[in-house]
Amino acid sequence: MSEIESVLVENRVFPPTAAQAAHARIQGMAGYEALCAEAAADLPAFWAKRARDLLVWHKPFTQTLDDSQAPFYRWFADGELNASANCLDRHLGTPVERRTAIVFESDDGQVSRVTYKELLARVSRFANALKAEGVQKGDRVILYMPMGVEGVVAMQACARIGATHSVVFGGFSAKALQERIQDVGAVLVITANYQMRGGKELPLKRIVDDALAMGGCDSVRRVLVYERTATAWDKVDGRDKGFAEALAGQSDQCAPTPVDAEHPLFVLYTSGSTGKPKGVQHATAGFLLMVRQTFEWTFDWAADDVFWCTADIGWITGHSYVAYAPLAAGATQVIFEGVPTYPDAGRFWQMIERHKVSIFYTAPTAIRSLIKAADSDATVHPRNWNLDSLRVLGSVGEPINPEAWMWFYREVGHERCPIVDTFWQTETGAHVITPLAGVTPLVPGSCTLPMPGVDVAIVDESGQDMPKGSGGMLVIRKPWPSMIRTIWGDPERFKKAYFPPELGGGVYLAGDGAVRDVKTGYFRITGRIDDVLNISGHRMGTMEIESALVAKTDLVAEAAVVGRPDDLTGEAICAFVVLKRPVKDAADGAAIAKTLRDWVAQEIGPIAKPKEIRFGDNLPKTRSGKIMRRLLRSLAKGDAITQDTSTLENPAILGQLDQKY
Ligand code: PRX
Repeated sequence: MSEIESVLVENRVFPPTAAQAAHARIQGMAGYEALCAEAAADLPAFWAKRARDLLVWHKPFTQTLDDSQAPFYRWFADGELNASANCLDRHLGTPVERRTAIVFESDDGQVSRVTYKELLARVSRFANALKAEGVQKGDRVILYMPMGVEGVVAMQACARIGATHSVVFGGFSAKALQERIQDVGAVLVITANYQMRGGKELPLKRIVDDALAMGGCDSVRRVLVYERTATAWDKVDGRDKGFAEALAGQSDQCAPTPVDAEHPLFVLYTSGSTGKPKGVQHATAGFLLMVRQTFEWTFDWAADDVFWCTADIGWITGHSYVAYAPLAAGATQVIFEGVPTYPDAGRFWQMIERHKVSIFYTAPTAIRSLIKAADSDATVHPRNWNLDSLRVLGSVGEPINPEAWMWFYREVGHERCPIVDTFWQTETGAHVITPLAGVTPLVPGSCTLPMPGVDVAIVDESGQDMPKGSGGMLVIRKPWPSMIRTIWGDPERFKKAYFPPELGGGVYLAGDGAVRDVKTGYFRITGRIDDVLNISGHRMGTMEIESALVAKTDLVAEAAVVGRPDDLTGEAICAFVVLKRPVKDAADGAAIAKTLRDWVAQEIGPIAKPKEIRFGDNLPKTRSGKIMRRLLRSLAKGDAITQDTSTLENPAILGQLDQKY
């Protein structure tokens, strides 16, 4: 698509078709506005009504919102329930029990199906195995698993016995895993011998061994190992158990343990603006309520849909819209083990055809890479498959550029399917700004309007509302049920990071910039305003990468990391590094750059590897010694330096930082 066309289409509006509107449970924008008005009139009553309708309570709640210790808000606090009972047991004795809960497709294309009744039996059995290992309500369990049914079963089994799960994405390194195990104080780790991705067998258990060997993980009493492949794995006697051994003889009946509404369902680590990842803690009832409600509103889900969210369970999207929302709703969903480009870049389209997927939820990075592949190889273009089953498309994780939006809309959705560009975060738990399929008129590149019941605004640094058309900071002014409750073990950091006193102390700061359209009031996210990067929809803190680089003490004296725009990955990581010895020549520079990339992969994971590394005798600093990051961002982008460099202590440095490795 040409530049000019892309600029033109950005202002185009795609209202729902009559068929989409007729399907939707919310009747048009009038219906949407009525919900927003209901929430504005009495926010607690709005959510209380839905919590009663959508959740199954062991003990009903009588209080809705407790803000007496704001910003530590509590929702439905005197109620009791169980998340797994809300996803599985509730369907027993209804027609849903025979419905397929999960259609699993493995990396090599094998398909298996699990009904709701079977899933309940598997979760119960696993829950009994966890109990037999001594796991108790309130204990923390780490998952380091491949994408698959077993991961979801393990998460649900933890929830069933009131244990708090913490899933670590299988691409994180041993060091990153060790830090998370230690921080959360896990008693048990669930992993697999290997994971299959793109035809390759990649170790997981070995990385768990390395993590535990680093020390500080004395809380871990047991490692359970899912034997995903037939390849042997090293067993540490007295500590490790294969799944077969752990599950042997366990009953497939296990009564769900009731927990308080505020009981921590999970802790999920994410990057912030300091070097240490934050353990985002979510509460059982509020989380479950909002993921289920948004699943139905945003995707306009109905019982005959086949839902497919391509996110891994290691990220929030895989928690909210794979492990919990579809099950709570009684949906049939596809879970895919592999990668979009194996055996070729037609894999997603082939799977949509094969499983008759009707709601397809994926990330802009995946779309962009598949556009590129289809442009250079016509045999992987989506037109080669029958995509008539599709009804709704979704995007998540990063801004979707209008070119990618239009391609997705035309080539995948055949101009029949709304695209819901869902803005949200690990901390929000569920969609907070998004179009509702069949309701909201769409504008490419805009996440449109707030979810009813979420009070989103754009403000300046003193908390004043910005007029439409002017950019500012995205905030949420009132609590919402699926909000982060605290940072695990660090309530002070929670308050400081999200509820700055300048904004009144009770207003949630999202960390993103945003602007509203003058005419429509639609939101457009302009990107993070803190030191967090978004690489292929994965969150990465610049400080985290800097800490990893300077930890290579034999080579690195100082490092600064910034992001720059990238056509494929959204943002790319650029590192500016001061070495302890001079670079001899280009070959030497390339060799050092490789060493540093490998090092970062080992410290954090391959997703944190800098795309570009530049070396200098120093970094551009002010006379007071502050690194001029804005200048580094301009250098990384390849822009002319327009900033005032007169305050630079060492202007000559700029010339050195041209060479990229
Ligand atoms: O910058 C925003 C971006 O992703 C950040 C949240 O990342 P994470 O907690 O990993 O959750 C990702 C999946 C929900 C946000 O602060 N982001 C997420 N969705 C969008 C987005 N940016 C623009 N448009 C979106 N739809």
